[in-house]
Amino acid sequence: MDPSPIGIFDSGFGGLTIVRALVDLVPNESLVYFGDSARYPYGPRVASEVVSFSHQIAEYLISNYDVKMLIVACNTASSVALDSLKDRFSIPILGVIGPGARSAVGASQSGRLGVIGTVGTVASGAYQREIECLDPTIELTCAACPGLVEFVEAGETDSEQVKVLASRLLYPIKEAKVDTLLLGCTHYPFLARVIQDVIGRDVVLISSAEETAFEVKELLAVSGLSSPEDSIGMYTFLSSGDPDRFKELGHRLLGPELEVARQVVWKGSPSNEKRRAPG
Ligand code: DGL
Repeated sequence: MDPSPIGIFDSGFGGLTIVRALVDLVPNESLVYFGDSARYPYGPRVASEVVSFSHQIAEYLISNYDVKMLIVACNTASSVALDSLKDRFSIPILGVIGPGARSAVGASQSGRLGVIGTVGTVASGAYQREIECLDPTIELTCAACPGLVEFVEAGETDSEQVKVLASRLLYPIKEAKVDTLLLGCTHYPFLARVIQDVIGRDVVLISSAEETAFEVKELLAVSGLSSPEDSIGMYTFLSSGDPDRFKELGHRLLGPELEVARQVVWKGSPSNEKRRAPG
């Protein structure tokens, strides 16, 4: 038994989809969430930069919060930084690519599967490799969706503009006649309604959140790291961006668990909050 918190991070609000699943599945676990809002989006950044940000956040959560496990709740970071994080830190570290891929492969009946993600995730080939390993007969169609993350970060999850952009970006997936679409970016479940409208009601949307939460629960149990059953989880939210904005929009996206957010300012690393390159 270990009552220490689990650390979770993402470039911004996306990882809150994983937090939601964890709060519901393991309410006895405490969580510390880090949203790197000052440096989002990660999607268009070069891999080495995303690796360095991921290491900085992991180091921060381990040294300041003594987290017992780390969840890389970002597909872009999972696809490029997971192995080096595991090499460097001794606590269990889990990404979202494996759980998402397992869930999607299990759900597809026709064997025609779509994956959407950031430019960085799709270019890394992480899903392509993982799915090929799980089932080489799957016909996979991947599409990068630059720009969708920015709509979520702006709190615009249902506007006409996001629908127009989604229709354009999802065109190749629609053409491929997939029966299952994996949302390979943790921000995208917040756009599920728009994506479902665009892709059609008969396509099953898969988010990695639930499967990741199941894997966390299992990993906690096998490694003897679960919090006592009768504990009540405490939630801490940190953001490198404006904490009031993080609290306000995070509360809307996650729910009542997000009441307060604290700011972490990266020294020597200028905020990119005003830079809005498509992710
Ligand atoms: N939520 C991240 C992911 O799953 C975000 C992306 C970004 O910052 O571009 O890939």
